[in-house]
Amino acid sequence: MEENARLWDIFLDVQSGLPRQGPGCADATRRALALCVGLPDRPRVLDVGCGPGMQTMVLAQELDGQITAVDLYEEYLEQLKARVAAAGVMDRIEVLAGDMNDLALPEHHFDLIWAEGSAYNMGFANALEAWKPLLKPGGYLAATELVWLAPAPERPAEAVAFWDGEYPAMTDVQTVASMFRDRGYKLAGHFTLPDTAWWDDYYAPLADKLPMLRQKYRDDDEALGVVEMTQREIEMRRKFGDSYGYEFFVGRRGG
Ligand SMILES: C[S@@+](CC[C@H](N)C(=O)[O-])C[C@H]1O[C@@H](n2cnc3c(N)ncnc32)[C@H](O)[C@@H]1O
Repeated sequence: MEENARLWDIFLDVQSGLPRQGPGCADATRRALALCVGLPDRPRVLDVGCGPGMQTMVLAQELDGQITAVDLYEEYLEQLKARVAAAGVMDRIEVLAGDMNDLALPEHHFDLIWAEGSAYNMGFANALEAWKPLLKPGGYLAATELVWLAPAPERPAEAVAFWDGEYPAMTDVQTVASMFRDRGYKLAGHFTLPDTAWWDDYYAPLADKLPMLRQKYRDDDEALGVVEMTQREIEMRRKFGDSYGYEFFVGRRGG
């Protein structure tokens, strides 16, 4: 347990200070939002696993409603609070520390639940199930998920071996779409994030940090292991990025 806690601390150190904590971009956030047709003028929005909140700020620009942004990690929440203060939108964004597995929030309250790169933390299908009661009937759930884009026989063995280790639950677009349907959502649409969404605000700044981290942890094999795994993940994307991607799904809760 202590071992896990230490590895987690190293992982957080590797990830700290990045503009985003996963693939994504403002254009994709806007494109997914455009699929949420018929939102009220001042929607109530829940951004789960908001991280440093780049997408939260885009939502605040595009919508005139109230946003509740939740994450487990204080450091990310501090980053988001600084962004909220800089933009002067403290009255419209509430930043909350909380666990997505146990959200103490009112039922039938939100018009829109947003989850970029975060639902996988509790299992994508579990998240669809657990968060549904928080949505008003007809409310939307927009979430990104890592999926295979290539059919199984065409997936590069090296990429399959890597992701089998890192994210064994990884599946494909059709399977995730059926998770929505099986849990009472109508799929409003889905699209694949552009390759730039992996690099500009995530892998490029992450790759820039790696030489500093190698130096910092030069006498710590365990930490170096985490750094090298990060390097491998970035290499996977460079070599095999055509075979997998991040898919943005937008589902609408039935009545
Ligand atoms: C891949 S990051 C995505 C962050 C952000 N949405 C973005 O796109 O930059 C996943 C986020 O989920 C958060 N997270 C992980 N487990 C969580 C939990 N149990 N409850 C709330 N947030 C959690 C992490 O702290 C992290 O900020």
